[in-house]
Amino acid sequence: MKSYKIAVIAGDGIGGEIVAEGRKALDAAASRENFRVEYKEFLMGGAAIDAVGVPLPEETLQGAKEADAVLFGAIGGEKWDALPRNLRPETGLLALRKGLDAFANLRPVKVYDSLLEASALKPEAVRGADLLVVRELVGGIYFGEPRGRDEKRGFNTMVYSDFEVERIARAAFAAAMRRRKKLCSVDKANVLEVSALWREVVARVGREFPEVELTNMYVDNAAMQLVRDPKQFDVIVTGNLFGDILSDEASMIAGSIGLLPSSSQGAKGGIFEPIHGSAPDIAGQGIANPCATILSAAMLCEYALGEINAARRIESAVEAVLDSGLRTSDLARFGAKKRVGTSEMGEAIKERILAQC
Ligand code: IPM
Ligand code: MG
Repeated sequence: MKSYKIAVIAGDGIGGEIVAEGRKALDAAASRENFRVEYKEFLMGGAAIDAVGVPLPEETLQGAKEADAVLFGAIGGEKWDALPRNLRPETGLLALRKGLDAFANLRPVKVYDSLLEASALKPEAVRGADLLVVRELVGGIYFGEPRGRDEKRGFNTMVYSDFEVERIARAAFAAAMRRRKKLCSVDKANVLEVSALWREVVARVGREFPEVELTNMYVDNAAMQLVRDPKQFDVIVTGNLFGDILSDEASMIAGSIGLLPSSSQGAKGGIFEPIHGSAPDIAGQGIANPCATILSAAMLCEYALGEINAARRIESAVEAVLDSGLRTSDLARFGAKKRVGTSEMGEAIKERILAQC
């Protein structure tokens, strides 16, 4: 029987609660598709700072590199907010992404019919919306040098080299080929040099993908278009910062940030995590929505393990359970037949996977 090694990083806040449910779904799908998953747990973020004094221990990076994939929860919390930047929990996540060269961050946004009312937009605007944000994850202003800070000035550098744009563009065109063959590249080329280069390189890569219709949009307009008419988008490709902002915005199309999974991939393996944060305000209460993490486990099966059937099982179980009216508290106002906690939601999804034909 095939066996895969998964590095599990629960992190902080609700991280442990949601990752436990992600594992249940993964185990259930594995048992249905006849493969095995071995987990090894590692520390990162605030939990690592408390235990060993740094946000990304060497052992964690090593374990992540050796694994077939990383399943990650969330990091951060007020407790660590006052630390210098290089010791903050977030720095651990950024270093993990960088260390794995996980440059291609896929953030799919899907609207479930049973949750139309939950969307921040009108039901008729979102019914059938289905888009994918492809965010460059290990470059741009998050990592650019020089950066610095003194009492009177703070600065960062938004920089992309042609090869970095090329590889993310290629990942985005490839994703568009698997979908509806439309790609919108989002930049700020009317103002920024870095965006002018971005646009040029994306167009060049586009010549390798003649079947994909490529358009360009300024990021301010894209932010507006996303809420005006999300159905116009298939795949969006953009840089690190713009992608961070637009993907949070896009989550409101679906109705809750607790629904959106992600995959971050480089050459091998990848990091699979919900796009939401550690939600310290609800941590420990067992009420967080585990769907984003469970759907991230589905992406893990598809992209890191090549276990497409397992991925489809998890995704259809999530949809079926949402259709049946189970709701965690973030979505309790919308079509709830039964209000459930984190683990009850995870159990229901697991049971559904085990009961599928
Ligand atoms: C995300 C998060 C992270 C980011 C933070 C926690 C560093 O917002 O994954 O979207 O900005 O990339
Ligand atoms: Mg974000």
